[in-house]
Amino acid sequence: HKQLDQFPKDFLWGSASAAYQVEGAWNEAGKGISVWDEFVRIPGKTFKGTNGDVAVDHYHRYKEDVALMKEQGLKAYRFSVAWTRIFPNGRGEINQAGLQFYINLVDELIKNQIEPVLTLYHWDLPQVLQDEYQGWESRKIVEDFTNYATVLFEAFRGKVKYWVSLNEQNIFISHGYLMASHPPAVSDPKRMYQANHYANLANASVIKKFHEMGMPGGIGPSFAYGPNYALDSDPKNVLAAEDSEDLNAHFWMDVYLFGKYPIAAMKMLNEQGLAPTIEVGDEELLAAGKPDFLGINYYQTNTVVFNPLDGVGLGKMNTTGEKGSTEESGLPGVFKRVENPFVERTNWDWEIDPEGLRIGLRRITSRYRIPVLITENGLGEYDKLTDDKEIHDDYRIDYLNRHVHAIREAITDGVDVLGYCTWSYTDLLSWLNGYQKRYGFVYVEQDEKQDGSLNRYKKDSFYWYQKIIQENGSNV
Ligand code: BG6
Repeated sequence: HKQLDQFPKDFLWGSASAAYQVEGAWNEAGKGISVWDEFVRIPGKTFKGTNGDVAVDHYHRYKEDVALMKEQGLKAYRFSVAWTRIFPNGRGEINQAGLQFYINLVDELIKNQIEPVLTLYHWDLPQVLQDEYQGWESRKIVEDFTNYATVLFEAFRGKVKYWVSLNEQNIFISHGYLMASHPPAVSDPKRMYQANHYANLANASVIKKFHEMGMPGGIGPSFAYGPNYALDSDPKNVLAAEDSEDLNAHFWMDVYLFGKYPIAAMKMLNEQGLAPTIEVGDEELLAAGKPDFLGINYYQTNTVVFNPLDGVGLGKMNTTGEKGSTEESGLPGVFKRVENPFVERTNWDWEIDPEGLRIGLRRITSRYRIPVLITENGLGEYDKLTDDKEIHDDYRIDYLNRHVHAIREAITDGVDVLGYCTWSYTDLLSWLNGYQKRYGFVYVEQDEKQDGSLNRYKKDSFYWYQKIIQENGSNV
């Protein structure tokens, strides 16, 4: 573009977190046990056995954290509610003390003119529901999740205007039921697609409920979108990229926005005997749960080539149960992920591809014509606290700056972007990487020994974002 459009005046310059990764206070005020509380205690599952028992103690320090947000000028804060604080046993009697924490947090945000963005589910399923009926593998989850969500809708009606239903359904389902790196650590594609179907129903059900209740504001899921590229113009690689986009992206987004699974992907799963059982009434429910916006968590793109039938499968994972972008993996007979020679990579082997965000936003707009809220984007790095208690994270500033620029380009293209929540606000517990991989604007003194001072220090990126917000992004 010769000239870029301005960011909308009410653009939500935000930042994000998740309950398990920041709160700590894992068994305080009547909180129940979640699947993550259990999983982290199994030896070898997380980096040096780190867990969220204390995390960065946001539960006790939320006022200090909100004061920092206020100082920075943050317009929105995305956080998640721990289901087990509201219902220690997943359902039944409300734990008032647990709900009170979120009432306090939301009031504190509003008092400081920060828009709360509330995520209903960021992976910390009540363990009781896992034990009783295998959680996401049962249809019963739909009712329990809707009941839990309804309590929050009632409690925060009018106060919270932006709601996220499920965080990264595609990630918690694939990691939980195929890669086995998240709870319940199952590796079975058939079970994965069935659990995913119930998650789709649960998602649609809470959205339907939200609309039936005439809730002010909007609701949508946050999808982990990695747009798919073909490595080159070889038609068989282009087809592989189409297949990957269908199986890895449309397979969720089409269900959210059209209430239907993509045709080619479903046909493929049927042939392989992997398609979920869809009962009478399911399609109606899916169609009735149309989101008001789509949340997107964007980190990187996915470059693929055709993968022969005897080609690479799931591939190896690193010691923390994750796959780097240069580690080959794929679906035999369909696609295989390869290294993209055109982009840089982080120290965790994640691609740095700001243009990919613009491409993703464009694709969503073309296919679905729905407003987008970027609910996560950020750089996980080793940060160094200097003797003067400073953190010179110029690499993060550069990363974020390029992504903000890509968003402005996308807005100029005509994409309706509601806001941008960076991941993350303070440093926090990475599910599988402990505290060595940091994302925040605010450094927290905490490490694998889990006895840190928990003091907060503003990184250089804190001031960079402060300025971006002041100028409403007009100089990016
Ligand atoms: C997203 C999640 O997948 O990525 C976050 O929603 C997570 O909860 C973030 O922390 C970064 O992942 P990681 O593995 O680098 O900590």
